[in-house]
Amino acid sequence: MNNVFALSASGSAVVIDLTSGSPSILHWGADLGPIESTDDLLRAVTDPVPHADLDAPIKPGLWRENSMGFLGRPALLGHRAGKDWSTKFEIIEARQSANTVFVKAADKNAGLQIEATFELNQFGVLLVNQTITNTGASDFEVTEFNTWLPLPERVSESLDYTGAWIKERQPQRREIQTGTWAREVREGRSSHDYTIAQLAMTKGANYQQGEVWSVGLLWSGNSRHLIERQPTGRTTIAAGELLLPGEMILNSGDSYSAPTIAAAYSSEGIDGITDRHYRWLRSRANHPTNIKPRPLTLNVWEAVYFNHNLQKLTELADVAKTVGVERFVLDDGWFGSRRDDSSGLGDWVVAKEVWPNGLKPLADVLEARGIEFGLWFEGEMIQVDSDLYRAHPEWTLQVGDRLPPEGRFQQVLDLTHEGAYQHVLEQVSEVLSSCKISYIKWDHNRTLVEPGHLGHAAVHNQTLAIYRLFDELKSRFPGLEIESCSSGGGRIDLGMVMHSDRFWTSDCNDALERQYIQRYTQTVIPPELLGSHIGPTTAHTSHRTHSLSFRAVTALFGHAGIEWDITGCTDEEIASLKSWADYYKANRDLLHSGKMIRVEQPNDEAFLHGVVAQDKSKAIFAYAALKATAGSLPNTLQLLGLEAAANYRVKLVEPAGAAFWIGRKAPHWFDGVTLSGAALAQVGLKTPVLAPEQAFLVEAVRV
Ligand code: DGJ
Repeated sequence: MNNVFALSASGSAVVIDLTSGSPSILHWGADLGPIESTDDLLRAVTDPVPHADLDAPIKPGLWRENSMGFLGRPALLGHRAGKDWSTKFEIIEARQSANTVFVKAADKNAGLQIEATFELNQFGVLLVNQTITNTGASDFEVTEFNTWLPLPERVSESLDYTGAWIKERQPQRREIQTGTWAREVREGRSSHDYTIAQLAMTKGANYQQGEVWSVGLLWSGNSRHLIERQPTGRTTIAAGELLLPGEMILNSGDSYSAPTIAAAYSSEGIDGITDRHYRWLRSRANHPTNIKPRPLTLNVWEAVYFNHNLQKLTELADVAKTVGVERFVLDDGWFGSRRDDSSGLGDWVVAKEVWPNGLKPLADVLEARGIEFGLWFEGEMIQVDSDLYRAHPEWTLQVGDRLPPEGRFQQVLDLTHEGAYQHVLEQVSEVLSSCKISYIKWDHNRTLVEPGHLGHAAVHNQTLAIYRLFDELKSRFPGLEIESCSSGGGRIDLGMVMHSDRFWTSDCNDALERQYIQRYTQTVIPPELLGSHIGPTTAHTSHRTHSLSFRAVTALFGHAGIEWDITGCTDEEIASLKSWADYYKANRDLLHSGKMIRVEQPNDEAFLHGVVAQDKSKAIFAYAALKATAGSLPNTLQLLGLEAAANYRVKLVEPAGAAFWIGRKAPHWFDGVTLSGAALAQVGLKTPVLAPEQAFLVEAVRV
């Protein structure tokens, strides 16, 4: 059996050492070039033996076992009625094929077996899968099974994201110190506060510079991301599912597969991490842009809320058609007794009260205008005031007789009851069969509190049930796209990426807030998966008023749409919307396939970010003033990522009207200049003094 396996791809490498009988990640980071002697490499990395410690160097291995002398947090925590809590796995099989290493190990005494695979894909994203099997005769409870990767000592800062409703994905950066930094989620969904990926960096690393390591989890339920620095100074990063007590009891022969982790390394700052994730996700055959361009969407929620009326919606569809909208999404309120948010969830039957002839008349209106029809569901929920609850109160996630506190007047439907699962699947299928509906927006508006199934914690199985349901709906209705929404961005994660086609990024359509929310959510989620809509002039969630041009430039960097009662727009606003829609359609292929660049600014007054075509032939940058400038002259725009030696024609683009700037003369390049990629990066362009909350685009086309 080979003792050292090395994987390398796209400037990244992983070296796995099996010499201690248990796999150890000897290196995860930059490519090492050819390894002449693995013996010498092993000699180089063997720790010294300090005083007051064990007599031989401690090599914790992937599973960080106490039996190896390791005193930090083990990867596997569990027991068999109080026994087999400490393990000593021994490798029984290990092999490498192309870019994947497979390791199988067993602890015969504990009656456990682990299979682990490490795949370093062509984009330099390391995917690690681990499955544990109970080979013993009695039950074994897994309480934690995380995947850990080593970080070098030069890592000094962590970066992750927190947030709340209408304020998702706010960055928090801190110095790594001895101890454990844990980001845990117990909401039963990935949550508004979910980090999506946790990053560790060398001091001062930013979007362009420094080394960055990231770990994310392909999972939408409870989770845990950890960075641990031990008293030895050694630092590690991990992610795994957060299991509730008794949630994962393996009967004899049963297995538990920990969620896949996706890990990336970049020597070119955070943008490098972003780039690896985008290229990986975009390489999937079912990535939505590999099927068709992302249609310009109109969602009616902030236009009509619960007031469904065919005539009003037809007027909206007419204006949408004029603007160039390609998909129309009917939101909450079309089913059961759901005339407001107090009742009806669980009854996925068209309400005769508001839709006397079903949804077909609206579907026909849309079809006649060449617009796709999308429909809202919230199938994981149930309300006490619903026919479903009256028939099946036992299909609610709860502990004993105790109903959890309500959230938005609703409870969570226990999809792990096969009857409940089939109820949702069949009712949704019937609606989707009743007329041409090619898109569903699937909401999830409350946290899971006391999520019990027949007395047992059920977040794990509930998460698997929603994946199964989405997959089954997609196979029943080929071409169906699913948007994952959860009170805005409460369920955006790398697990859900694999089962859905779009995320509702946030209920906040305030363009200023969106600048931040989109920027940080896009750390590992590509813009084409993130719904970004032009909202009303005065945002409903913040009451801030923004120009159409600022809202339009902001909404362009995502899967663009409109969420506004455009029947009340002026002719000038409609003309601007149309011009913006045309620009989106003409440039979405670039915006949804290029490399994302977030140009570091000397202060927090503005963002400059852009998308550069993979062949560097064209780029679109957005400059957004977030606050008033402190100096009388603002930052210079450095357009990064272009081909240094090539010339580019650069011009100002304002797809939905001019940004408002203060000052007496505009910069001279506004009418167009031709400069090399090197000059654009090094010398840059002078900006006008933009008023706060204004933005414009700069387009660079190779000549
Ligand atoms: C929350 C979502 O985020 C909104 O977009 C909208 O769909 C409402 N729910 C409907 O209840």
